[in-house]
Amino acid sequence: MTGIKPTGEPHLGNLVGAIRPALTLTEEYDSVYFIADYHALTSVRDPQELRQYTRSVAATWLAAGLDPKRTTFYVQSDVPEIFELNWMLSCMTAKGLMNRAHAYKAARDKNVEAGEDPDAGVNMGLYNYPILMAVDILIMESDVVPVGRDQLQHVEYAADIAGSFNHVYGKNYTFKVPEAIVPDESRGQALPGLDGRKMSKSYDNTIPLFLPEKKLLKLVRRIPTDSTPVEDTKNPDTSAPFQILEQFASDDHASVVADTRKRLEAGGMGWGELKNVLFEVLNAELAPLRERYEALMEPGSELDTVLAEGAQKARDRAGRVLSQAREAIGLTGVAR
Ligand code: TRP
Repeated sequence: MTGIKPTGEPHLGNLVGAIRPALTLTEEYDSVYFIADYHALTSVRDPQELRQYTRSVAATWLAAGLDPKRTTFYVQSDVPEIFELNWMLSCMTAKGLMNRAHAYKAARDKNVEAGEDPDAGVNMGLYNYPILMAVDILIMESDVVPVGRDQLQHVEYAADIAGSFNHVYGKNYTFKVPEAIVPDESRGQALPGLDGRKMSKSYDNTIPLFLPEKKLLKLVRRIPTDSTPVEDTKNPDTSAPFQILEQFASDDHASVVADTRKRLEAGGMGWGELKNVLFEVLNAELAPLRERYEALMEPGSELDTVLAEGAQKARDRAGRVLSQAREAIGLTGVAR
């Protein structure tokens, strides 16, 4: 299970670093992936933007090959059960735990440094964020949660919160205690962006996934290289365009990658030519995805049906856990 926060247009780094590895996991696990729009609400303030990003991220995952029959795939705010459990678990979570959460602490430190009130600009959504995330995880009875390093603490918190509940109500109901898995980073560094640093929305250096060809080519040309002359031998492993090529290319283009590496190492291949190769591979592999993406983004497309069915599946699953939790803690009321 993992949540995807819809806070920007999907880019190449998302595809390589998150979407593809998550799709591989669906072959092995009963998988649950969702668009965390409530989490995005701690920072996104424009309704049009929130709608656009939510649809766009969902369409991207489907265009990239997510099979909604195999994966439970939904939008978080379509599952009201999450909110009922959110209150219950809020009542079982120590405030001190939230005080120590990285994201909140970072915001406070920054304020203190700037001589501001420590809580300036901090809304309760940001503060309670880890509890909502714990609910996302626990309500789906998740075993493993693939996340980036920055989210590790949140998964540990989910395990802690499950533990608090189980300690008190364990005779009646126990939550499954989740574990984080961090994707293997030993395979290489993060995908470089347009300035050579890690491709990330916060650095504003991304290559969006679904650009028209001309724009894509323009961006590829902006990727930094050094001034080594065409004839000289080059090190592919320190070249941003080559790293993007190597990490992005699927098996279909394995021979192009191997061949390009040899030619760079031998000398005689210039950076301009490397960028042409990169553009061709990107464009060839992204074109069919772009087509599916654009069809899904049309109003009234299949996307709406997929998400409605996903929400139903998620609610069935969440509802079973929720009614056991309600019963365990002594909430009465009509059975649902
Ligand atoms: N907090 C995660 C992020 O910022 C998104 C998220 C929300 C999530 N709920 C989750 C991830 C549950 C894993 C499990 O990326």
